[in-house]
Amino acid sequence: MTAPALNICPLQTRDITPIMALHGKVFGPGRFARTAYRIREGLLSEATQANACSRVGWIDDTMAASVTVTPITIGGVPGAMLLGPLVVAPEFAGQGFGEPMVVAALEAAKQNGASVVVLVGDYAYYKRFGFEIVREGHITLPGPVNLTRVLAVEFTTGALAKFQGLISADNTPITY
Ligand SMILES: CC(C)(COP(=O)(O)OP(=O)(O)OC[C@H]1O[C@@H](n2cnc3c(N)ncnc32)[C@H](O)[C@@H]1OP(=O)(O)O)[C@@H](O)C(=O)NCCC(=O)NCCS
Repeated sequence: MTAPALNICPLQTRDITPIMALHGKVFGPGRFARTAYRIREGLLSEATQANACSRVGWIDDTMAASVTVTPITIGGVPGAMLLGPLVVAPEFAGQGFGEPMVVAALEAAKQNGASVVVLVGDYAYYKRFGFEIVREGHITLPGPVNLTRVLAVEFTTGALAKFQGLISADNTPITY
C-alpha cells in the first residue's frame, strides 16, 4: 500500500502543545531528565527564531511527525544546531516518515547558516544522513550521555574542527 503524503511545514506556535503531547506519548516523563532536553529547556515555547528550523509533518490535518532543531553554541562558538527530538507518531510509524523530516530539518539548518548539526541518537539510524560519531571529548554536553550516541554532520568538510567544547543553547538571533 502506498504511504499517505506527508506535508512538512515550519513549526507554528499553535503546534507546540500537540508536539509536547507527542513527546510525552513517545518518550514518557523520563524525557525531562535527558541531557539533550536540558539544553533545549524552555525554547520550545514559541515559534521564534529559536525554532526557525523545527518542522512538523502533517497528514491531512493530523500531526504525524515533528523534529525540533535548536541553535546552539559549542565551546561558545555559534553556528551549530542541535537536532531532536525526532518523533513519528506511533500510528504513522514504519512508513519511512522520519527520513524526510530529518532531510527537511538539515536543509533548514543549512539555509539558516549552520555549519554543523549535532544530535544524541542511534548511529544506526542517523548514519544514512551523513552523521558520524563525534570523537570522545571533542563535544561535551551538560549532563550524562552515552558517548557513542553523540553524532554530528558537517555541511563543509572539516567544519566540526572549530566546534569544540560544551554545548549550550544559543539564544541570540541567528546572524551567522
Ligand atoms: C526513529 C523514528 C523517528 C523512525 O521513524 P520511521 O520513519 O517511522 O521509521 P521506519 O520504521 O519507517 O524506518 C525507516 C528506516 O529506519 C530504520 N530505523 C528506524 N528506527 C531505527 C533505529 N532506532 N535504529 C536504526 N534504524 C532504525 C528502519 O529499520 C528502516 O530502515 P530501512 O529503510 O532500511 O527499512 C521513529 O521510530 C520514532 O519516532 N521513534 C521514537 C522516537 C525516537 O526514537 N526518535 C529518535 C531519537 S534517536
